[in-house]
Amino acid sequence: MATHQRVDKFITTDIERAADAIRAGGLVAIPTETVYGLAADASNAQAVQRIFEVKGRPADHPLIVHLPNRGQISHWSAEVSQAAETLTAAAWPGPLTVILPRRADVLDEVTGGLNTVGLRVPADHIASQLLQLTGIGLAAPSANRYGSVSPTTAGHVHDELAAFLDPATDLILDGGPCALGIESTIVDCTIEPAQILRAGGIPAEDVERLLAGQLTGTAGPARASGMRESHYAPRCEVKLADNAADAIALQAATPNSEILDLTGDLVAYAHELYGRLRHADQRGVASIVAVLPGPEGLGLAIRDRLTKAAAPRPR
Ligand code: TXA
Ligand code: MG
Repeated sequence: MATHQRVDKFITTDIERAADAIRAGGLVAIPTETVYGLAADASNAQAVQRIFEVKGRPADHPLIVHLPNRGQISHWSAEVSQAAETLTAAAWPGPLTVILPRRADVLDEVTGGLNTVGLRVPADHIASQLLQLTGIGLAAPSANRYGSVSPTTAGHVHDELAAFLDPATDLILDGGPCALGIESTIVDCTIEPAQILRAGGIPAEDVERLLAGQLTGTAGPARASGMRESHYAPRCEVKLADNAADAIALQAATPNSEILDLTGDLVAYAHELYGRLRHADQRGVASIVAVLPGPEGLGLAIRDRLTKAAAPRPR
């Protein structure tokens, strides 16, 4: 595949310039170890509102605030549960988001009006440098249009959002392909025991082990917007198969279809998943027949994304 290095008015590798854009109230798409995020100063209501416009996302969906370090939790939440202490001590910086009671001064634009706030310290070194430079919390959802596939390269962000960004104020900070390729694990630490709201880069088994088994089951009403049925969806249809043999049969019965099966290497599956779906769209593939991995380790998050990509679509 071609590299995503392009001469472009949005794409830059200049972290100082990206920090300036954030300080000036602009939007900067940032690389993280999970997926690219569309970031703004989380204390700037106007800038945060623009994230929703550019994404086409409903205004009541909360955003994750990305922090330079764990010490800044107290700027956003005054009630950090023992579970949150334990999880963040072990997994930050990294692909873990904790939901905590918000402090009263956190913007409603960030929390979607909820009384909670999602926090994460990303591990990606470019994201980390940008956060150190600005020293502030950055509100950032995945840098895709609402409901579509998350971007894992700067080129993907460009394809999704260039038409909606403002060249006078906004940038795409190119940090290369995301190391992990799938979003953070979200754990609601406002309830006891804590509950995983979205499977992600930190396996559920690790969360459970860290909390010594003290975890509420995941069944129940969808509480994160990423948990609505159709999400992470490419243009092409996604069909699911439980194993390679079923996939071959399904593909044979489906015109202009291709098989996606990286079940032999879940790290590669997570890393490649969104790029493969995008690439299928670029080539006009009508249907992807994806083999579901087992629900162990990263398999749980991959299953979740594939199932949502395969769900009936609105419109
Ligand atoms: O890995 C990630 O988490 C990436 C990178 C950029 O950090 N971000 C990401 O953001 O996936 P987003 O907005 O696409 O998905 C975050 C999910 C949404 O479903 C949102 O509703 C949920 O987190 N969320 C955020 N704050 C919340 C809160 N206070 N309570 C419940 N859910 C929350
Ligand atoms: Mg998203």
